[in-house]
Amino acid sequence: MKKMVQAVLVCCVALVGWVLAGCDPSTQTEVRARVPALAPGETPSYRVHVAPLVAEACVPCHNPSAALGGYNMASYEGVMGSGTSGVHVVPGDRNSTLLRLIRREPVPGIGPMPPAGPLPPDAIAIIERWVEAGAAP
Ligand code: HEC
Repeated sequence: MKKMVQAVLVCCVALVGWVLAGCDPSTQTEVRARVPALAPGETPSYRVHVAPLVAEACVPCHNPSAALGGYNMASYEGVMGSGTSGVHVVPGDRNSTLLRLIRREPVPGIGPMPPAGPLPPDAIAIIERWVEAGAAP
């Protein structure tokens, strides 16, 4: 019986910790996607590491029915394709427009993305690493 109480207590503590972690104020935007951690030297893939972030932070404004800036981010092909001002992901190029926008560096004619506030630094780092490593699907 004592073991049982202990087990329930441990679960409660774990649950409270999980809820508190979800309320981390350092997460400026609503990016709650679970992205697997990258091992040192591991090449990020779009499907595993980037798509969950993009789905939450970008696709609400960049999808087939509301492709703001003519840019549809609902698929890998869309992200690699162009919007009204051209291509935004150049494999291997750290200065691809998409990276400049999420780092909130000035880009003529386009505002910082997402417009409401920056992605968490770890999300930006994953997307940068993905582009630099060749923007694989
Ligand atoms: C709240 C809506 C909204 C969200 C969320 C959003 N965007 Fe945008 N995006 C826009 C609008 C509006 C434009 C049109 C240009 C402008 O007004 O700055 C745009 C334009 C762009 C363009 C330029 C398209 C072109 O060719 O002209 C890129 C690239 C872009 N967004 C990337 C992103 C990325 C990456 C994310 C997610 C990290 C994102 N956006 C999230 C609204 C949004």
